[in-house]
Amino acid sequence: MTAVITGGTDGIGRALADVYLDRGHEVLIVGTSTVKGEAFLRDAARAGAGDRARFLPADLSLVAENRRVIDRVVERYPAIDVLVLGARYHRSTRSETADGFESNFALFYLSRYLLSHGLADVLRRAGHPTVLNFGGAGQTGPVRWDDLQLRRDYPGTGALGHGGALCDLLGVHFTEVYGELHYVLNHPGAVATSFAGEYDPATAAAVDRLRTTGKPVSQAVAQILPFLDGPATGLTAVLEGRRVPTDTTAFDRRDAARLDELTKDLLAGLS
Ligand SMILES: NC(=O)c1ccc[n+]([C@@H]2O[C@H](COP(=O)([O-])OP(=O)(O)OC[C@H]3O[C@@H](n4cnc5c(N)ncnc54)[C@H](OP(=O)(O)O)[C@@H]3O)[C@@H](O)[C@H]2O)c1
Repeated sequence: MTAVITGGTDGIGRALADVYLDRGHEVLIVGTSTVKGEAFLRDAARAGAGDRARFLPADLSLVAENRRVIDRVVERYPAIDVLVLGARYHRSTRSETADGFESNFALFYLSRYLLSHGLADVLRRAGHPTVLNFGGAGQTGPVRWDDLQLRRDYPGTGALGHGGALCDLLGVHFTEVYGELHYVLNHPGAVATSFAGEYDPATAAAVDRLRTTGKPVSQAVAQILPFLDGPATGLTAVLEGRRVPTDTTAFDRRDAARLDELTKDLLAGLS
């Protein structure tokens, strides 16, 4: 069994990497920090699982980096059982990547779009494949259709919520195309993690509080694991361990198809 985990160097992603390593999976984590990646490899070696642990450094806010990761994963693993999409980075101020995309749109949404679709075939080769995307689970819209990349009135760290709403629509369209796969959208609530990012002073103070008042990572993992384990297909949305309905406007199929078309256009414009 194989698990590929973006954001696997830290927080909930790292905790899930440890869970799958304990279960005997091959585990590949992706992040930018070689210090954190090497710590994972050292811990895995100490636990006698060094031969099953891999770290792939990559900046997933860049389209080419996502494509490189897809190529490396497809080369290395015949099938993927679990794909976790957990990389994120807070920004109080709007910025753009070298590709010209708003940074949060690029990392929180576009990377997950590229990895979901780019790894769909290798997921299909597994017995009961599951994708876990930390989206909005219907809690974080609305989508700004006239300003997907938040050029006007950038909402600070609220940009993550906007990315979450886009990820929800990604999940809807993905399961329309690949109905045999299971796609889980999870909003874990406030979890005490590192909250890596660049903050203005007011947001930094609020985030400091979250680092102590958020639920432990172990609780967030315990709340989502039952939804990843069973054989299932289609779309599941989970809010803090509870399944939430996916027949609401946040999961509208026409909106999902519209976003898919817009995303293809953006990517075509890039190449
Ligand atoms: N914590 C919460 O309260 C909370 C609430 C709602 C939703 N969530 C969602 O849960 C998921 C996990 O969150 P978390 O709090 O566990 O995260 P976290 O501890 O802040 O870790 C973020 C991860 O993203 C990686 N990352 C950041 N920028 C990257 C880039 N450019 N390319 C590749 N990787 C990058 C980091 O790796 P490096 O450091 O190695 O770059 C790290 O592994 C996220 O999707 C988040 O939105 C969390």
